[in-house]
Amino acid sequence: MQIVKTIKEVREIVTDWKKQGLTIGFVPTMGYLHEGHQSLIKRSTENDRTVVSIFVNPIQFGPNEDFASYPRDLERDTKKCEEAGADLIFAPSDSEMYADDFSTYVDMTGPTDELCGLKRPGHFKGVCTVVSKLFNIVTPDRAYFGQKDAQQLAVIKRMVRDLSIGVEIVGCPIIREADGLAKSSRNTYLSEDERKAAVVISKALETGRKMIENGEKSAETLIAKITELIQSEPLAKIDYIKAVDADSIVPVSNLDGNVLVAAAVYIGKTRLIDNFISEGSEK
Ligand code: PAF
Repeated sequence: MQIVKTIKEVREIVTDWKKQGLTIGFVPTMGYLHEGHQSLIKRSTENDRTVVSIFVNPIQFGPNEDFASYPRDLERDTKKCEEAGADLIFAPSDSEMYADDFSTYVDMTGPTDELCGLKRPGHFKGVCTVVSKLFNIVTPDRAYFGQKDAQQLAVIKRMVRDLSIGVEIVGCPIIREADGLAKSSRNTYLSEDERKAAVVISKALETGRKMIENGEKSAETLIAKITELIQSEPLAKIDYIKAVDADSIVPVSNLDGNVLVAAAVYIGKTRLIDNFISEGSEK
């Protein structure tokens, strides 16, 4: 496995692979990899070669967010990539990705207007811009994104469709800890008590999923129940809980159809997200 830091090096390696007729899978990450990222890398080995980018993208963080404290450990990440079967790590510096006078952005309306888009202004502009740049650099056949960031996945699918980018987007299931907490690099911020408390999010969503399975049709009733369960945990503070159409991210009142039920919850100072997708109940 190779590790490179420049766009030029990635282009040389990928050009060579393409000359050999090899297919390329791509897993964009911000590093501090866990089993969730590794599941994406493993899935990407369905391609002949897998590229992983490790870049904490400054332009997708708001001024009061955790850009500076976001965990970074390239040595640890290298081992995780190797274990999972990656062929190339692209770990650029900020200046390699963004010239001092950088001024071109990819922005979107629609799927970015709700959920994290509402709560983190500018976040998806930063995500769309960096992912477009990475797609232009790596030119993969397929790119792999986790369902944990369900809105991000919907946004990237929309961007690829709207801008006719020739990459197949593959969504992969949420990977969870044994107690149900969705794996996230930000889980490392949690104290012991917060870590115990954080399980309330996945438990409440699981109750919601069962309610739909048992025939619940009202988004309002569902959200009220999930809210009540999460509020019962003193360390939890809800940022949002919403039911939206899984593709358009438009809020729904009826739970029939392809519905994304998404939650963002502060556990202490750490903001965690989780979700499930329901295809409606038969009842
Ligand atoms: O999901 C992430 O880790 C990031 O948003 C991504 C897609 C790597 C872009 O910086």
